[in-house]
Amino acid sequence: PARPRVFSGIQPTADSFHLGNYLGALRHWVALQDSHDAFYCVVDLHAITAGHEPKVLKQRSRVAAAQLFALGLDPERSTLFVQSQVPEHPQLAWVLGCITGFGEASRMTQFKDKSQKQGSDRASVGLFTYPILQAADILLYQANAVPVGEDQRQHLELSRDLAQRFNSLFGPTFTVPAPHIVKDTAKITDLQDPTAKMSKSSSSPAGIIDLLEEPARSAKKIRSAVTDTGREIVFDAEGKPGISNLLTIYSALSGRGIDELVAAYDGKGYGDLKKDLAEVVRDFVTPIQERTRGYLDDPAQLDKLLAHGAEKARAVASATLRTAYERVGF
Ligand code: ADP
Ligand code: NA
Repeated sequence: PARPRVFSGIQPTADSFHLGNYLGALRHWVALQDSHDAFYCVVDLHAITAGHEPKVLKQRSRVAAAQLFALGLDPERSTLFVQSQVPEHPQLAWVLGCITGFGEASRMTQFKDKSQKQGSDRASVGLFTYPILQAADILLYQANAVPVGEDQRQHLELSRDLAQRFNSLFGPTFTVPAPHIVKDTAKITDLQDPTAKMSKSSSSPAGIIDLLEEPARSAKKIRSAVTDTGREIVFDAEGKPGISNLLTIYSALSGRGIDELVAAYDGKGYGDLKKDLAEVVRDFVTPIQERTRGYLDDPAQLDKLLAHGAEKARAVASATLRTAYERVGF
């Protein structure tokens, strides 16, 4: 039997992915290649919904793709492409927008949050219709599964509703995607504010570990990571979020269990743990940085890989769009 199809996307909005992106999402992308027919997309159309720099957009998509290949996405086993190279995405989004209720779209909490931050006059219509484009991203590939974190649940729910609605209005066309819940998904917190998630929009760069930054810089951030006043190394995400976050990162990157680490650091101090974690991070990022540089040193070859990905994606997307257009009456 054919492997189930998985779809996921990530924005090229920063020059490097951070450890939260990797541990919460991208490492699962890599793992899912074994069990699924994977379609992964650098969503540059989504990246222009809240203001952007035209001069760096294309390069950011390349840097994003280079990191994804460096992390282990295999262009032969899975399909990695850049969204703007597959025009079927906005084409299907228009059709889906026409069966989305205005009130329904208005209830998306991510839009409410983001537009509140920007001010309602500055928030774009693109930011408002973002979840509809996201639905098109997923439905074009007839994805069975979509790996989602808590923050994307509502958007996936909309994708499911739109698939079902389209199918019942116009006839069976789309696979209704299910959330792919990954067990033990690590939620990584900000090193300077362990109650907030590590995020590129975080207030202090010292709170984020970027995959492409100098290991010495990461080591410094780890050294000054906020922990609590206690001295004992125990895992307690509620009571000791700072040290627990460091243990989570350590465990995920080294493959050693949390319990094993807690036992190994019995009687030792935070300084010992931080020093060792900095080495674990360095050993992890060094080969990734080398491979990323390798891809970026040959942009023509990288663009060729992405063109190949877009071609594979388009073969599927255009067939789906053709059916959807026919059903609608075009
Ligand atoms: P950011 O929060 O830096 O803006 P995105 O929202 O673009 O990152 O998230 C991209 C992917 O990385 C999503 O799948 C998201 O769930 C995951 N992710 C982002 N930050 C973290 C984190 N701190 N811990 C775990 N997963 C994260
Ligand atoms: Na975000």
